[in-house]
Amino acid sequence: MSSLGNIPLTIWWEDGTVRMIDQSRLPLVGDLLVCNTYDGVCTAISGMAVRGAPALGVAAALGVALWSETEGAEISDLRYYLEEIDRVADEIASTRPTAVNLKWGAERIRLFAHDNADVGLDALRPLVLEEALRIRAEDEERNRALGAHGATLIEPGARILTHCNAGSLATAYYGTALGVIFSAHAEGKVAQVWVDETRPVLQGARLTAWELRMAGVPFKLITDNMAASVMRRGWVDAVIVGADRIAANGDVANKIGTYGLAVLCKEHGIPFYVAAPSSTVDLTLTSGDEIVIEERDEREVTGVTVSGVIEPRTSIETRSLDAITEAGPYALGMTKGHQMEISRKGGAYQFDGWVRIAPPSVEVYNPAFDVTPAELVTAIITERGIARAPYAESLAEACCGTGALHELG
Ligand code: MRU
Repeated sequence: MSSLGNIPLTIWWEDGTVRMIDQSRLPLVGDLLVCNTYDGVCTAISGMAVRGAPALGVAAALGVALWSETEGAEISDLRYYLEEIDRVADEIASTRPTAVNLKWGAERIRLFAHDNADVGLDALRPLVLEEALRIRAEDEERNRALGAHGATLIEPGARILTHCNAGSLATAYYGTALGVIFSAHAEGKVAQVWVDETRPVLQGARLTAWELRMAGVPFKLITDNMAASVMRRGWVDAVIVGADRIAANGDVANKIGTYGLAVLCKEHGIPFYVAAPSSTVDLTLTSGDEIVIEERDEREVTGVTVSGVIEPRTSIETRSLDAITEAGPYALGMTKGHQMEISRKGGAYQFDGWVRIAPPSVEVYNPAFDVTPAELVTAIITERGIARAPYAESLAEACCGTGALHELG
């Protein structure tokens, strides 16, 4: 089993709360976020403290279970509990639109509660929590299986390019695209990974680079617009990415920029692999045209977010920082719309800022995902095996079949 070094768990249940590593400021600030209410889980999802399709599925399941253990525990009428669990599941599922896993995780708990309601409310609540914990555990098992299948596609000495973060942090643990890379690396096959920085939220530079370093996998970080050039030089043997939603025909929604990579792979004769658990496949959609693409805040494009910890070097600095943060977070006065806030953090001080890079009032288009047509996808690696075109058949088999499926389709 391949080792991930010190990569922490992404999201878990502890002492009646949902806990997660806050990914919005990683790797320079690594906070533990403790959610006591399902509202807190919703805020964590929309603020991208937890992100990545499979991790969102787990967050949704744990969020519904958290409601059941807290507000839901005040309810004594079974019918009302079931109505409320429907409402809460819907609310959590609608926090972000593209990753189908979010809906999948919320829906699995909601249906579980309805299907097992005849045991009565007191017995049902612990079962709901158990089901959410099962979803979390299954996610890691799936990723490890998927990683082992995917590693069979990798040749010794491979130089692999990846985009965004489809790593351990994007799942309960281990990762999808990075899961394949971790497994292939454990088999000694990976010479180097090219990590796209992934503008605008920089999941590649911040998260994938952090994970690969901790797992001891050799990599180089590039900006997104360098991918074509390294491919043309013959330095990329395969591209592996994750997915947020895969339609029944094999069209793949993933982080913005993925489609461009798939086109480049075709031009340069490089295999383009997608690694995703079956919970990411949405057989209700006939094609990727039906996938709703999330559009995010224009400030992700017009500026950059910065965070870090201030270490005062003198007692004068300490006293000054103490004084300005005495009444809570302190916003510095800045021109041009830049923002900088200083707050106390344990015995230290943290800064959180946003620095404008574009002129004020520019119009922005900021889709978080794009859709890669199935004909550009060499194979889709799932926990049940490797699906190839025609995807309508191989994906249905991956999601609903029962046989041993190492090469699907
Ligand atoms: O906006 P994000 O960070 O949630 O987007 C994540 C991605 O696009 C990942 O590539 C995808 O969810 C696969 S994660 C295993």
